[in-house]
Amino acid sequence: MHINFYALPSMKNTSILLLCFLIASCQKIKKETPNENHLITKIDQTIKTAAYQYKFLGKQLKTGEYPKTYDSNKDSLIVSNSGWWCSGFYPGSLLYLYEELKDEKLLALAESTFDDLKKEQYNTFTHDLGFMMFCSFGHANRLNPKTEYETILVQSAESLITRYVPSVNAIRSWDSHPLNHAKKDEVVVIIDNMMNLELLFWAYEFTQDKRFYDIAIKHANTTIKNHFRPDNSSYHQLIYAESDGAVKAKITAQGTGDESAWARGQAWGLYGYTLMYRSTKDPIYLEQAQKIADFIINHSNLPKNKIPYWDFNAPNIPHEERDSSAAAIMASALIELSSFSSEKSAAVYFNTARTILNELLTDKYLAKKGENGGFLLKHGVGHKPANSEVDVPLSYGDYYLIEAMIRFKNSI
Ligand code: GLY
Repeated sequence: MHINFYALPSMKNTSILLLCFLIASCQKIKKETPNENHLITKIDQTIKTAAYQYKFLGKQLKTGEYPKTYDSNKDSLIVSNSGWWCSGFYPGSLLYLYEELKDEKLLALAESTFDDLKKEQYNTFTHDLGFMMFCSFGHANRLNPKTEYETILVQSAESLITRYVPSVNAIRSWDSHPLNHAKKDEVVVIIDNMMNLELLFWAYEFTQDKRFYDIAIKHANTTIKNHFRPDNSSYHQLIYAESDGAVKAKITAQGTGDESAWARGQAWGLYGYTLMYRSTKDPIYLEQAQKIADFIINHSNLPKNKIPYWDFNAPNIPHEERDSSAAAIMASALIELSSFSSEKSAAVYFNTARTILNELLTDKYLAKKGENGGFLLKHGVGHKPANSEVDVPLSYGDYYLIEAMIRFKNSI
């Protein structure tokens, strides 16, 4: 922001004038960037491309199947059942697209999953019910409130809080299992779990049942206390003792190492604390979200185009895959965070989100109609250490890209 102080007229109430001028200047940062019209046009085109792609995906799916990713070598769509953590993203993307385009076919495709998906409201074996049920039924209910959806969402929140462990003050993420590096009397909590709290805030608003609110707050506070390093990066996975809540280990599952900053984990934390601030207006959450944003944005390994490598500490940077899904989540979160932040920080966050979108909406990352198995974004990384879903489309990359595009359009 460049302010020409010499151009200001001399008058007694200079401070008021200066304030007005600062506000006007900051508005300009958002509104008068040369690429803005180009980006809006590109977003509008991409939303139409996404509608085409998602109808194409819809044609390939049988009842009870949810798109996960695409194997380009075999030209094969990879699907899951409703119990996979990503089942809500396909209907969620369709509902966002329906909201933008008012194309009833998109709504019908989303709704065609609901008879199958709704059984997950009783699933107490996963912490991912926010992703699965709020990204789907949450949007359906926002667009067209129905008792049926509300009942499903409340039951989903009830199922999620069965996983709350009072001695740890947190919701259990993964069940204890040697594969999750946790013994029977240990509790696993991963940073991703912050995303599921949105469902609990909705349930509290709807029912006024304080249990939902209190558990969300306790989980978020425990995560602030234990998950973050002094540089504000986050561990992926913590192991707590169930007996007294002591932290027993700080490790990774999907990152390059226990001490590394797995990119999507940082994105989940950023989004999670932004939604905590939206839901509570408690400044400690705004501060946490801003610390995470600043870690990401100022990191020396964040490339100029702001699409992160899959892990900020991946060993062979710059010869490592970028993770477009982490970029999309970051863009969406940064746009919302900018709306809560002071003018200077807001401009940094918003400009970073704009850079990400400008990059993701190029041929390098964005599929053309009929390509990419029907997904929108290319080059996501699911679980690199397991060599699973590396450099592929991912349903959540698409969901958060669509959300980020809509947020961008709505905030200028
Ligand atoms: N556990 C969700 C993710 O892979 O980001």
